[in-house]
Amino acid sequence: MNNQISRRNLIKLLGVSSISLPLTGFTKPLKKTILKNTDKNSPIKLSSNENPYGPSPKVRNAIIDAFDEACRYPYTRVAELEAMIAKKEGVSPDMVLVTGGSNEALRATGRYFGMEQKEIIACKPTYLALLTYAKDFGCNINWVPLDKELRYDLNEISNRVSKNTSMVFICNPNNPTGTMVGSTELEDFCVSTSKKTCVFVDEAYYDYSILDGYPTMTKLVKKGHNIIVSRTFSKIYGLAGVRIGYIISSPERIASIKKCTMAGTNMLATHAAIAAYDETDFFKYSLNKNKEAINYFYGLFEELNLEYRKSHTNFVFFKTGVHIDKFGKYMKDKGVLVGRPFPPYYNWCRISTGRIEDVKIFGEKLKEYYS
Ligand SMILES: Cc1ncc(COP(=O)(O)O)c(C=O)c1O
Repeated sequence: MNNQISRRNLIKLLGVSSISLPLTGFTKPLKKTILKNTDKNSPIKLSSNENPYGPSPKVRNAIIDAFDEACRYPYTRVAELEAMIAKKEGVSPDMVLVTGGSNEALRATGRYFGMEQKEIIACKPTYLALLTYAKDFGCNINWVPLDKELRYDLNEISNRVSKNTSMVFICNPNNPTGTMVGSTELEDFCVSTSKKTCVFVDEAYYDYSILDGYPTMTKLVKKGHNIIVSRTFSKIYGLAGVRIGYIISSPERIASIKKCTMAGTNMLATHAAIAAYDETDFFKYSLNKNKEAINYFYGLFEELNLEYRKSHTNFVFFKTGVHIDKFGKYMKDKGVLVGRPFPPYYNWCRISTGRIEDVKIFGEKLKEYYS
C-alpha cells in the first residue's frame, strides 16, 4: 500500500468496524449501518425528510476510497460531476452548478434575486430557504395561499405577476404538503410565466415523483426559457449529511448565481454523488422502502379517520386537529420527532418516511394518542 492508508486501516481509524469487506450488494451491510445509526436513547427522527437507508455501500466505499484526495480542492471532481449531470440532462456543463446541498444554490439564488429588492411570488407553506434569504436582502415575498387541495394556485400566481416581480418560486412536489402540480399544467404555466419573469422550480423530491408522471422542468431550460431547476442528492440517494445538490439553468444565470455561492461542496461529497448518480439498485430500493412507509401512513390515517393529502415525496401531511406545538411535544415525549409547524396549517403535521420499524412505532403512538 506504500504510503497510502489501506481501506481496512482507514475503517479502523474511522471507527466504522461494522462494515464488512468486500461489500457486495447492499442488503446485508445496509442493515448493519442502519442499526448502527439507531441509538436506543435518541429519538426516532421522522422530522426532516431524510432517507435513513443511505448512503449505499457503493457510495460508502467511494467516500472511503476518496479519503486520500481530501487534501485536494474539489474543483476538478466537481467539474466531472457537473459534466455527468449535464450529459444525463442533455444540457451543456456550463448550465449545471453543483453546490453544498441544494440549499446553498437556493440561498445563493435568493441572494442574487433578493438584491434587486423587488418581489418574489411564492405559495404558503412551502420550502423557505430561497425566500428567507431573498427577504433578508430586502426583497418582498408576495405570499399566495394554497388551493383547497393544498396545491399551488397557479392561476392566482399568474394574476399577481407584475413588472415588480423578480421571480416566481415553485416547489414541485411541494414541501410540506407533498402535493404536486400536474405536468401539463405546470409546463404551460412555466412557459407563459417565464416570458415575464424568472421561474425557479425546486425539484428536491423529483425522484419520488417520476412514477407519478412528473417530467422535470429541465426540458424547458433546454428550450431556452427563463427557468432555474434545483435538485438534490439528499433524498433518494440518502446523502443529506454530506451536502451536495445542484441547479440547472442558462449559462448566464449559472455564472451569476455561482458568484453568490459561499462554501461549495467538498471532495468526499462529490465522490459520493458520482458513485450514487447511476446506481439503479439502491435508487429502486429507496423508492420501494419509501412506498412501503407511505402506504403504511395512508392506511393508518384512514383507520384513524384523519384527513391527509396523497404524497409524491418521502413524507405525508395530515390533519391532527390539534396545534402542532402540542402534538409535536406529545410525540417528542413518546420518543418520536415530527415536522415543525407550517403556518397557517397549525393543526396539521408533516411526517417523514423512515425505517419501516420506526414508522410503525410512530403509528402505535398515534393510535394511543387518539384512543
Ligand atoms: C423542497 C426542498 N428543497 C430543498 C431542500 C434542501 O435540500 P438539500 O440542501 O439537502 O439539498 C429540501 C430539504 O428538505 C427541501 O425539502
